[in-house]
Amino acid sequence: MEAVRVQSIASLSNHTDTIPSEFIRSENEQPAATTLHGVVLEVPVIDLGRLTDEKTIVELISEASRDWGIFQVVNHGIPDQTISNLQRVGQEFFELPRAEKELIAKTPDSGIEGYGTTLQKEVEGKKGWVDHLFHKIWPPSSVNHQFWPKNPPSYREANEEYCERLREVYDKLIKWLSLGVGLEEQEMKVAMGGEDTVFLMKINYYPPCPRPDLALGVVAHTDMSGLTILVPNQVPGLQVFRDGHWHDVKYIPNALIVHIGDQIEILSNGQYKAVFHRTTVNKNCTRMSWPVFLEPPAELEIGPIAKLVSEQTPAKYKTKKYKDYVYCKLNKLPQ
Ligand code: OGA
Ligand code: NI
Repeated sequence: MEAVRVQSIASLSNHTDTIPSEFIRSENEQPAATTLHGVVLEVPVIDLGRLTDEKTIVELISEASRDWGIFQVVNHGIPDQTISNLQRVGQEFFELPRAEKELIAKTPDSGIEGYGTTLQKEVEGKKGWVDHLFHKIWPPSSVNHQFWPKNPPSYREANEEYCERLREVYDKLIKWLSLGVGLEEQEMKVAMGGEDTVFLMKINYYPPCPRPDLALGVVAHTDMSGLTILVPNQVPGLQVFRDGHWHDVKYIPNALIVHIGDQIEILSNGQYKAVFHRTTVNKNCTRMSWPVFLEPPAELEIGPIAKLVSEQTPAKYKTKKYKDYVYCKLNKLPQ
């Protein structure tokens, strides 16, 4: 059976003000009923260009990761042009005729990579208003080019260039996160798999939705990665849960949005918090985002780093292989 794409549903619902019932969230999830407006709570913004003193950077990143689990970085060193190229080729791919996109669709045995729609088991059969594309971009031994779009032809170059720059940003962030819990600078990176850490690119494509008050893009979750580094387009939609309410994350041109994921929470034995987040959709505009999930290799065991466990701070999480963690998370099984 052919998969149903949200992009197709959206183009059919273009002139109506209804959406299929499987996209209507329960009342306690509907964005119109659950988003807090008028209270300005801003996710921390860290300017890496102006801060030259590493101690201050470590403090700011550590504080944001403990308190929020999410922050934005500006002046991160990735040229604006590299980011806009990444965005352009991704947008061009999603604007291709459907048959072209289906050429790299997920198959029952392609794993997470490929063009697709649903990701995890959906609660009560409800669907998110979003299509996606996943493919690994690093390390080279893990890359499967069959899941990379051939069209536009510059897709590969734009992604490779972004990946090269992103690796530098990751190395810095993971070093600062390591120092921020009192470890040596390489320890957190090594615990994440060192040079074998997988960079998994995802593109989210959220078409315009006639009822953005009733639907969600990605439902509330924490990322199962260690860290996620995300580029959005200019259409807002990312929300963060804090103090009992959902808050919009402000769009800052060319900023990177950094999420603490489950594995860094576990490695830090709970000192850093994986951020609970979701996305809303827009009535007139297409929202897109490019998160890269930094993941440990599948076979690597992840648990609280030994130095962070003591009698006063016993291990709060089990130690298990990353692939087993993923299996439980996607199937909504207890960890
Ligand atoms: C995700 C996600 C956020 C966004 O894909 O895991 O949370 O802004 N995306 O699209
Ligand atoms: Ni996420």
